[in-house]
Amino acid sequence: MKDGAIGIFDSGVGGLTVFKEIERLLPNEDIIYFGDTARVPYGNKSKSTIIKFSTENILFLLKKKVKIIVIACNTASSLALNSLKDIFSVPLIGVVEAGAVKALKVSKSRKIAVVGTRSTINSKSYEKAILKNDKTAKIYSKACPLFVPLVEEGILEGTIVKSIIEMYLKTFKKSGIDVIILGCTHYPLLKKQIAAYLKGVCIVDSATEVALHAKGVLAQNNLLRSKKNRTVRREFYVTDEPKAFMKRAGLFLKRSIPLPRVINDFE
Ligand code: DGL
Repeated sequence: MKDGAIGIFDSGVGGLTVFKEIERLLPNEDIIYFGDTARVPYGNKSKSTIIKFSTENILFLLKKKVKIIVIACNTASSLALNSLKDIFSVPLIGVVEAGAVKALKVSKSRKIAVVGTRSTINSKSYEKAILKNDKTAKIYSKACPLFVPLVEEGILEGTIVKSIIEMYLKTFKKSGIDVIILGCTHYPLLKKQIAAYLKGVCIVDSATEVALHAKGVLAQNNLLRSKKNRTVRREFYVTDEPKAFMKRAGLFLKRSIPLPRVINDFE
């Protein structure tokens, strides 16, 4: 079982922010990444649809004999993780809890902002995870649906980005927040611009936190691979548009990846 890979899935390419952190923190592990590019975006879909898609993604990764599955997608973590945890015996890790705990660790004012897709924000997943740990915390949330297409198009700075950031985040300016959680796979790519707009506010990006959490779960279950002289395995699968995925991956990983394999009907 130790020899199994870490499975990661996302609605598309955005989960590579999580892939990158896992790769950095767990350099001896094999990683299989699955991006559901035929059905992206998940961020405006219903709970039942997201549970259905996530179940299929997990079943695909299980066929690849993964030892743990990281749900890199905030929307899937928010809407599907709790239902799926009861069904599958493989350790399933989402991004929400880790981000919430980290935000509470760094917040002094206990006023925390959360941004994400519409489905993530409507699910109140971050709010619930924060309040479970600290009932006194105050949460300010905002769906920022235009951030994902901006990042997908590689538009990471400039006047358009500044205006859209202002449009969404100006509501936080006088709220007294001292932390903002970037509750979406894509938002870490806008981190610099968000930090420039919300000066002095600490930015929590769940990618780093979830990688740390995955490492902890692997260690607890005695599933960490020991250091060996071998080339680690990296496999990428998508459900559509492999070339577009490969191109965008460069933006997220700052290096090239091989052309991903397209899977049809979750063979
Ligand atoms: N991966 C999604 C998330 O983190 C963003 C893209 C989508 O809407 O599918 O919420």
